[in-house]
Amino acid sequence: MSRAVAIAHANIALIKYWGKADVARNLPAVPSLSLTLDGLSTRTEVEFDAKLSEDHATLDDVQLSGKPFDRIKRVLDRLREQADSSAKARVISHNHFPTAAGLASSASGFAALVAAASTALGIGMNHAQQSSLARWASASAARSVYGGWVQLRLGAESAEELAPRNHLDVEMLVAVTRRGPKPIGSTAAMQHTLETSPYYPAWVDAAPAVFERGKAALLAKDLSALGHAMEHSTLLMHASMLAADPGVLYLAPASIALIDCVRSLRESGVEAFFTMDAGPHVKVLTRTADAERVVGALKSVAGVLDVLRCTPGPGVEIVEAP
Ligand code: DP6
Repeated sequence: MSRAVAIAHANIALIKYWGKADVARNLPAVPSLSLTLDGLSTRTEVEFDAKLSEDHATLDDVQLSGKPFDRIKRVLDRLREQADSSAKARVISHNHFPTAAGLASSASGFAALVAAASTALGIGMNHAQQSSLARWASASAARSVYGGWVQLRLGAESAEELAPRNHLDVEMLVAVTRRGPKPIGSTAAMQHTLETSPYYPAWVDAAPAVFERGKAALLAKDLSALGHAMEHSTLLMHASMLAADPGVLYLAPASIALIDCVRSLRESGVEAFFTMDAGPHVKVLTRTADAERVVGALKSVAGVLDVLRCTPGPGVEIVEAP
């Protein structure tokens, strides 16, 4: 029996990934840039046991089956092949998210799974190799292998750290607007956008320049330019999915009210910038010094259930090894 435990953190894309250039290899059609977040983590324990007749996986004590389980099994199969092992595994994952808000947990989940399973099997994988395998399972997971500010370049197998956690003194505030399952998962929604949206080619054309703008702003520590690039990337992505047939609409009335709130804060001189992913929550990037005030404003928006405060977080960590 061999066992390892890893902890990985969620990440929020500032410059978005939406759409695949290669479905089989799960290569994104556009480059992305993210911030790994402290406070939103997944702890995954993997134990390979020759006595098991099949793999088992639980998330927050619920047995996984169907597609979520198949994705995990595919990662385990890949690693078993590399390690020349046939032992089945027990995978126990817990999300340490302040609320069960339906926030993206697949990124932290697959980053932790790859790190724990490869360590348990004794495969010495560096971060780039872990990121590449995590990307194949879920592209946003490639970024959660690294801490701080992370890029996944166009055509790249793995993500890379662009800047360390302390590069900018900021917080990402997550305004939670509604609990419950997503109407459609991101994998299916981005494929549907690719297949039916007349705006998808325009999104893919526009994305690299927005990425370069965001990356240059980040490296120059220009929060305002970074925030504007983030908002542009967000709205371009949502426009592409709104124009799918039928349209994909993740935004709720409270999401729109939150965008208005962020814009009014900016008019009053506070540097705050919004982003949204495949869900109704709005994430707001702001300076640490302004965070308290911004939290107060976000909490006063009708339909906001909670505001989580996240600082830049670390990359994946092995906390127990054989
Ligand atoms: C809107 O990484 O979940 O969060 O590769 O199919 O698993 P798969 O997709 P996934 O998509 C994330 C989409 C997004 C934007 C982003 O994180 O870049």
